[in-house]
Amino acid sequence: MAVVPTAQKAREVIEAIHRYGLKAPRTIIFGKNRLTELGDLAFLLAAGRKALLLLGGASARHYGLDRRIVGLLSRHGITTEVLDGIHGEPTVARVDELAARARELQPGLIVSAGGGSVMDSGKAVATLAVNDGSVEEYLEGEDEGRTMAAAPLPHITIPTVAGTGAEMTHNAVIGSPEKKFKRSMRADSMIPTIAVIDSMLTLSVPHDVTASGGMDALTQLIESCISNRRRPETTALAQEGLRLAREAISVSVEAPGNEAARDKMALVSMLGGVCLANAGLAMAHGIAAALGALYGVPHGLACGILLPYTLRYNASACSHELAHALSAFLNQGGMAPRIVEEGIAAIEKLADAIGIPADLKEMGLQEEDVQEVARHSMGTSMSGNPIPMTPEQVAEFLRPLV
Ligand SMILES: [Fe+2]
Repeated sequence: MAVVPTAQKAREVIEAIHRYGLKAPRTIIFGKNRLTELGDLAFLLAAGRKALLLLGGASARHYGLDRRIVGLLSRHGITTEVLDGIHGEPTVARVDELAARARELQPGLIVSAGGGSVMDSGKAVATLAVNDGSVEEYLEGEDEGRTMAAAPLPHITIPTVAGTGAEMTHNAVIGSPEKKFKRSMRADSMIPTIAVIDSMLTLSVPHDVTASGGMDALTQLIESCISNRRRPETTALAQEGLRLAREAISVSVEAPGNEAARDKMALVSMLGGVCLANAGLAMAHGIAAALGALYGVPHGLACGILLPYTLRYNASACSHELAHALSAFLNQGGMAPRIVEEGIAAIEKLADAIGIPADLKEMGLQEEDVQEVARHSMGTSMSGNPIPMTPEQVAEFLRPLV
């Protein structure tokens, strides 16, 4: 079979995303060094207005990304205010602070450059800049949260880490350490206007972040295929991502400077984002949200640990869908009789090779902790699980892992 270059594959999937009418940024720019197009793109959205640039931690300034973006925008007459140091998953307090600053500045455009936390902050700030109240009022909980009165500001996402695919999605995951929750603010209008995906920005991502990001993307692709909200269009796209994922993840971790692998990883991540936004997820993400909210376990790490266990647990309820997904992951043309077991074993092997722990035992969780994790796992992702779960069933599932 001829190998299709990543840039061409990206053009094909972007065309398919729009043809299928999936929720996604209306413009998706993908490819090495395409950040250089940012000024032209921003000019179309916010000529003569100010931009607010949200950036991650020290790495953004260290590698000069702030200066690059400010320069690209200023050439088109757009002045930029930079708010940086956004690290760790967004909290209610931090997002409210950023929103207050945005309301003062009244920008015409939000640009968020960083990992999932920065881009999720960008989605929330683009919305709250033109809507009053705290982000907490808009979060999904027992109900869907407060409805926003005004449409969010135009928003350009620029991922610098491959994994979450947050550049593509219509939700922002917000946590509260005090109230021990991690919930989503979600609306179709929160889909970023433009995503600029330039894999050259991910070359310096450290080993552990590359590994956990890769496992997050892999989990998102597989869970979107087995979710009870799955649809044929997203399953087809997820399978495209899964065919690239195994090699892209392992090479990106082993050889961080390998540009071809980073490019594939950026595409895998983008596909994971569009699939989760349009088909939902399942139990690994449900439990990962609880482990993040209660114990600060990094999201991708939790996904990577949980994925093989949740797939074995769910296999009987989604055997056909899982077999197809794992056949794509293994790059097998046909459907071998033991494809599910082989595929899950290959995920375990990959996770082990890139340093993901085999279980949750290092956390030292006690019985009451297990029950608390189970209670906090019952969010939107869990509602997509092939087997309907109660907190008691989740606790029973977790006990052998802790
Ligand atoms: Fe995820």
